[in-house]
Formats: sequence, C-alpha cells, structure tokens
Amino acid sequence: MPLNIAILVSGRGSNLKAILEAIREKQLDASVKVVISNKPDVAALKIAADYGVEAKVIPSAGLQRTEHEKLVYDSLSKLSIDYLVLAGYMRIITPFLLSKFRDERGFIRIVNIHPSLLPAFPGANAYEEAFNYGVKVSGITIHLVDEEVDRGPILAQEAFERLPEDTLESFTKRGLAIEHRLYPKVLQQLAEQKVPVYAQAGETP
Ligand code: GRF
Repeated sequence: MPLNIAILVSGRGSNLKAILEAIREKQLDASVKVVISNKPDVAALKIAADYGVEAKVIPSAGLQRTEHEKLVYDSLSKLSIDYLVLAGYMRIITPFLLSKFRDERGFIRIVNIHPSLLPAFPGANAYEEAFNYGVKVSGITIHLVDEEVDRGPILAQEAFERLPEDTLESFTKRGLAIEHRLYPKVLQQLAEQKVPVYAQAGETP
C-alpha cells in the first residue's frame, strides 16, 4: 500500500517537486492526496498542477492559527492521511493539528525538513544564519514535528561542508540538492516502515 500523504507548502515548492518526481520515477511509493498552500499564487501550486495533483489554497492571512488549521484539517480529515508532510510551510503548527496527527504512542505523524543540523539554527533563515555564523559544516535535518518549532524526533540528517570559496548562494544550492534527495528517501523509509526513530522506541510505524 502506498503511503498516503498530504503536503503543506507556502512558496517555491522545490521539495514538493522532488517528492512528486520521486513518485513518478517509482522511487517513492506514496500517493499525494492533496497539496495545501496557505498563500495564493505561489510556485508550488503550479508544480502540483503540472504533476496532476489536487492543490488548494487555504489563505492564512487574517486568521488565527487555530482557525486556519481547522480549515486545513477539514480538507484532510476524510483522506486517510498517513503522514502530513511540511515542505517549506512557513507556519507554526499549533496543538490543534498536532493532536489530530498524534498516534497512540505519542508520535506525531507530521514530517518536516529543515536546512541545518538541528538543534543548531532553528527558524526561518537557517542557511543564511549558518553561513553568516561561519560554520565549517552544516546539513539537513528531517524530523517528526513536536510542540516546539524545528524540534522533534530526528529521522535523518546529512551534513555538508562549507567550502572556502562558498557564497551564500553556492552553500544554499549544495544544501538544497541534499534536501531534494533526502526527503523522498526518508518518506520511502516511512512507507517501508523502516524508520530508526520508531525502532529506537521499540515500535513499528
Ligand atoms: C527548504 O529549504 C526547506 O528545508 C525549508 O524551507 C525551504 C523550502 O523550499 N523548510 P521549497 O519551497 O521546498 O523550495
């Protein structure tokens, strides 16, 4: 059975594209039931359309976080979603949506990708902050979401070096290439129920 996922986006959608491409190439056994953007007119919506996936805009502007999440959840609740996948979704997830995806063992079935080696450089500008800090090594983290921003059980991390000649642009480009390879790979591990975080807890997904 393919992994049923919904993907939340806010912008460019390059990770969305990597996931959809991996599905098309049969490297990822998943079915994207819906893509939801909290912003209108973003590139991610066009990508979803190009891949023939249902996409919706549920604007968050002017709404309380929980109010917005209730609308999002209304669109998800009947779709039998195994995992909610955050791909450049620039909203903090509130206890409302967390509770909807919390399983009986306490794991929250919401996955996020963050462009640093968490817990270093949480927040919205991780590439820039890591680069400006002068790190010699940075990386990408994929994790289950918990109550705190950019925190939760780590599913995968991959490091990359900052090269002496790097600009922020080249540094970011190298990181993004890892993101696009790693996110589909980790989702496939979830599909195959081979995820270390559950094994450590003596559980299966
Ligand atoms: C990525 O760097 C991701 O790690 C972060 O936000 C960015 C989204 O990019 N959470 P995109 O919309 O997937 O192109």
